Amino acid sequence: MTTPRTHYDILSQVLHWLTAIGVVAAFILGPEHFGRELRQGLDPATRWDIVTHESLGMLVAAMTLLRLLWLLVRPAAPRFDMPRWMALTSKTTHGLLWVLLLAVPSTALLALSSEGHPLTLLGGIRISEMPLLTHLAWIGWADWGEVHGLLGDCILWLAGLHAVAALAHHVLLQDGVLRSMLLKHR
Ligand code: HEM
Ligand code: HEM
Repeated sequence: MTTPRTHYDILSQVLHWLTAIGVVAAFILGPEHFGRELRQGLDPATRWDIVTHESLGMLVAAMTLLRLLWLLVRPAAPRFDMPRWMALTSKTTHGLLWVLLLAVPSTALLALSSEGHPLTLLGGIRISEMPLLTHLAWIGWADWGEVHGLLGDCILWLAGLHAVAALAHHVLLQDGVLRSMLLKHR
């Protein structure tokens, strides 16, 4: 019989923490009013905060796609004994976080292409046209910049609750949930 896993594999751990840092940093750099400034004709490439925000966000998107692929083949995630409602809440929170990790960058790309702004990334990368997105039938259905900002707030709130829950597991329930995302001591 194999012993049940107590920890996530190292790749899942590294990508989890890099993603967490990336989301928080992108949020902090989500400069207020910057959508309005873009609409007033500001060239985003002239602003380090916008370029860094977009680069971090795209990095988060790339890491999320990689994590989802890894999820299909990686060793099973650790399991802990807990009441049904708690396991269900944890599953739902993870599900929503995955959805937001994809929806936040996607709505940003929709915002840029619907308003005709370039995607500007560190290293002087500038993508002025995104024809695949511009031709989507529903590109004009919403103010995607608004939706993106709102979802950016949601992911921060949800990740905050998720972090508080992880700390509560550690301090109050004293189980191995938080440690499962941290390096294993030999
Ligand atoms: C995890 C990643 C991200 C988070 C948490 C995030 C968060 C935010 C937030 C909170 C705002 C609203 C700022 C404000 O007006 O107060 C915002 C605006 C914006 N972000 Fe992001 N963002 C992320 C990724 C991206 C990416 C990948 C791009 C580019 C492809 C991007 C482009 C923009 C743009 C263009 C706006 C202005 C939208 C408008 O008002 O029209 N963001 N972001
Ligand atoms: C923006 C920030 C964060 C996001 C988007 C996020 C997202 C996620 C996701 C999607 C998972 C499932 C991982 C997988 O199956 O590979 C996860 C697991 C986990 N996260 Fe986070 N997380 C964030 C921040 C944090 C923070 C700050 C903490 C701790 C204080 C934390 C602690 C954990 C733990 C302990 C697990 C594994 C145990 C479990 O929840 O079942 N996360 N996180």
